[in-house]
Amino acid sequence: THSFTLTSLSAPFSVDSQTLQKQIDELSTFSDAPAPAVTRVLYTDKDVLARRYIKNLMGLAGLSVREDAVGNIFGRWDGYEPDLPAVATGSHIDAIPYSGKYDGVVGVLGAIEAINVLKRWAFKPKRSLEIILFTSEEPTRFGISCLGSRLLAGDETLAKALKATVDGQNISFFDAARSAGYARYEDDLSSVFLKKGTYSAFIELHIEQGPILEVEGVAIGIVTAIAAPASIKVDFEGSGGHAGAVLMPNRNDAGLAAVELALAVEKHVLESGSIDTVGTVGILDLHPGAINSIPSKAHMEIDTRDIDEKRRNTVIQKIHQSANTIAKNRRVSLSEFKIVNQDPPALSEKSIIEAMEAASKELNLTNKLMISRAYHDSLFMARISPMGMMFIPCYKGYSHKPEEYASQDDMENGVMVLALTLAKLSMS
Ligand code: GLV
Ligand code: MN
Ligand code: MN
Ligand code: MN
Repeated sequence: THSFTLTSLSAPFSVDSQTLQKQIDELSTFSDAPAPAVTRVLYTDKDVLARRYIKNLMGLAGLSVREDAVGNIFGRWDGYEPDLPAVATGSHIDAIPYSGKYDGVVGVLGAIEAINVLKRWAFKPKRSLEIILFTSEEPTRFGISCLGSRLLAGDETLAKALKATVDGQNISFFDAARSAGYARYEDDLSSVFLKKGTYSAFIELHIEQGPILEVEGVAIGIVTAIAAPASIKVDFEGSGGHAGAVLMPNRNDAGLAAVELALAVEKHVLESGSIDTVGTVGILDLHPGAINSIPSKAHMEIDTRDIDEKRRNTVIQKIHQSANTIAKNRRVSLSEFKIVNQDPPALSEKSIIEAMEAASKELNLTNKLMISRAYHDSLFMARISPMGMMFIPCYKGYSHKPEEYASQDDMENGVMVLALTLAKLSMS
């Protein structure tokens, strides 16, 4: 079915990996953390500047640029059969606090370079090709991961919930969006939803964020499935009081309830017996946060994931039971136990896997089928489109920290496979 091959055209098929590296370095300067760390949070000034940078590059690549009400950005190259469902690719450019330059970014700047590769190759797409920059893949500001792609996939519950969503500074989602130039006229986000069938395929290029490809010396990871993520917000409340004057038997310390629950999260994850079950308490805030005041409130956020959805749900149930038991034993109240998201895993489309395998083979690049333990916008695009994902190696598997790194050669390989796969999918 993918009869379109590298030999179908005779112009050179080559990646300008030096320019790509330069762009990655430039984009990383739009950051609220000192280099080499990158912090780029949704709708901040740095995010707006970074978006402008990407839109400019899309324009230079000859793409027509459109933005939706939450700032998902689309760059389109019309095919010669523009009414056929398009082939899309893309990723995100937001970066969690003190992270690196490559997470998401490789799938956006790499996609623009893939389009440039195809143009230099004199390729003419049959189906239109589209690059998508997704709004807020990371949950940093509003606690919701993959905000843009969830909405594209038609998440009405989220569209409603955003009307009452605020960030840690009590700034509403809509005020923040407006400050970045989005959601100007509406508070109805249904305009963002895409119809199923808008795309015949969606593929995302991303760094592996794990060590396998580097250790095994494999160039391209072809993702067969994305693990099921969940996140939970928990609040405990006690009476607080003076750290010297309130004697130990009279305390109900909300902070101790939270740390006890953090240890219970680890225990319940390990009880699953599978190496694929993981759990993390990445946020733990104590109120009032003074050395001489017993914490009267504790806020924690728990991330738990598994490739097996049922097993992950069992962990969530156990965490909930522990939260209740700990609250009772410590005479604090469990004032919130909110499951923010509890998503099923997603499977890649067989025909897209085959296109990526064929492209790697034609380019003489080794490849390997693997699962994605991190989540990606692809998890939600899979709800409205056949989906595929590909990984490139990254140094020691580092991600979500400043040491994150992918070599120019590895990015070049990823962009070549992406470009050729887009060409095949466009012609099929
Ligand atoms: C994405 O950043 C994830 O946490 O998997
Ligand atoms: Mn990330
Ligand atoms: Mn990412
Ligand atoms: Mn991610």
